[in-house]
Amino acid sequence: MTQPAPADLLAGLRRLLPEARVRGDADTLASHGKDWTRFYTPAPAAVVFPVSIDEVQALVRHAIAERLALVPSGGRTGLSAGAVAAQGEVVVSFERMNRILDFDAVDRSVTVEPGVITENLQGYARERGLFYPVDFAARGSSQIGGNIATNAGGIKVIRYGLTRDWVSGLKVVTGRGDLLDLNRGLIKNATGYDLRHLFIGSEGTLGFIVEATLRLTTPPREPAVMVLALPALDAVMAVFAAFRERLQLTAFEFFDDRALGHVLARGVPAPFATRAPYYVLVEFDHAHAEDMDAALAAFEHAGAQGWIVDGVISASETQAKTLWRLREDITESLAPRQPYKNDIAVRVSRAPAFLAEIDALFAREYPSFEVVWFGHIGDGNLHISVLKPVDWDAATFVAECARVNVLLFETLRRHGGSVSAEHGVGLVKKPWLGYTRDAVEIDYLRALKAVFDPHGILNPGKIFDPA
Ligand code: MLT
Ligand code: ZN
Repeated sequence: MTQPAPADLLAGLRRLLPEARVRGDADTLASHGKDWTRFYTPAPAAVVFPVSIDEVQALVRHAIAERLALVPSGGRTGLSAGAVAAQGEVVVSFERMNRILDFDAVDRSVTVEPGVITENLQGYARERGLFYPVDFAARGSSQIGGNIATNAGGIKVIRYGLTRDWVSGLKVVTGRGDLLDLNRGLIKNATGYDLRHLFIGSEGTLGFIVEATLRLTTPPREPAVMVLALPALDAVMAVFAAFRERLQLTAFEFFDDRALGHVLARGVPAPFATRAPYYVLVEFDHAHAEDMDAALAAFEHAGAQGWIVDGVISASETQAKTLWRLREDITESLAPRQPYKNDIAVRVSRAPAFLAEIDALFAREYPSFEVVWFGHIGDGNLHISVLKPVDWDAATFVAECARVNVLLFETLRRHGGSVSAEHGVGLVKKPWLGYTRDAVEIDYLRALKAVFDPHGILNPGKIFDPA
C-alpha cells in the first residue's frame, strides 16, 4: 500500500481528529508501534486516539479513501505481534475510549468501550457483588477490546471458559466503514449466522471493536490455592482427576522447576523446602468447611499414590495471592533472557505425552538450550519458552528456534493441536498457521477477510497474507 508523505498523512488525520490526538512524535510512535513481542522494530507513520465511534468510523472511511493501513492498539500486552506496526501504518489506539457505559443488575451485564482495562472491569463488577471471570497476569494493562480481538483465555478457563463466552453484544466498525450492532446483549438469538463470533479472535483484521456488552456472574466464595510438587510428569493427569472429582476447581496450572527457579530468584518466597521437577497450582472454591476436608483428602490420596511429594495450602487470601505469584511472575522473570515463546494447545489428555516428546526433541536438537515449561495444563494450553543463551545474538537464536519449530509443530500436528492457544497469530505465528488450519480452510478465512475488509486496510499482514 502506498502511503502519503508523512506531513500530508498527519494533515489528513488532523482534519478528522484534534491535533493533540494525532501524534507523530518519535516517543509515541515507538511506544504504540509495538506490543510485548520482541524482535520487531516499531515504525508506524502516526498514532491516533479516537474518543468516539463516530471518530473511528471517520478514520476507517478516510483510510479507505487514502488506502491507509490501520493497526488497532489496546493495552499492547500481546505476545504474537498482533498490534505491531512496523510498516508505516497508522496506529489506532483505543486507550481514550475507556468508559464503562452501562450496567444492568437484572441482565448481569456491563457495556464498555474497548479501552477499559481488564482489572478495572473486574473491580467494577466486584463493587456490585458480581464477577468478571476472564483473568490473566496482564490484567493491569490489557484492555477489553484487545481481549475480545484475541479471544483471551488465561488462568480460569477450566471453570469459566474464554472471553468469547462472556461477550453478549458487540459493536464493530468493519473495513467498509459500516457500524454493526451485533446481538445487543441477548442470551438467545436464533436468527442465523452470529457474526459476533467472527470478530472475537479476529485480531482486528475484519473490524474494530468499538463497544462490547459483557456478561457477569456470581463471584466464587473465598477461593483457596494449593501448590503441589510432582516427582514425574505422568502423574499430572491423575492429580488433576483426584482434585476435580472432589472439588469445584477454578484453576489447574502447571510449571516446571526451571520456571520456579527464575521466580524464586526475584525474591518470591519458596512454597516448601522440597524441589521437584514439576509443580501444579490448584485453585478451588472454598465455600464450605467440607471443601477444605475434600482438598486434604485429595492431597492425601495423591500423596499415598506417590503422585505428589510435597504441597502447601493457603490459609488466607494474602497467602493465596503469594502462591499465585509463583505462577504469574514467570513471564516477567524470564523476560531478561529474551525467550522465544510458543503457546500451544492440545487436548488435555495429550498434554503430558506432547510435553515429554518436545522435551526429548530439545534434548536431542539443542541440549544447551534452557527450555522452560508452564501453562494452563487443565485446559491443554502449554507455554514453551526457550531462553536465549547469553552468548548468542538474537537473530541467530530466532533462526535456530524457527528451525526447531518445524519439528515441534510437526509433533503438534500429529497430536491434533494448535500453534496458538491464547496468544493469537499476529505476525509471529503466521508462518505456522498451516500446521493447524489446512489450505482450504485458510482460503475460507481469506474470503471472509475480503467481505469485511475489501480494501485490506485493517491490520494488514496479520494472521495470514493476502492470496
Ligand atoms: C501466561 O500464562 O502467563 C501468559 O500467557 C503469558 C506468557 O505466556 O508469557
Ligand atoms: Zn497463558
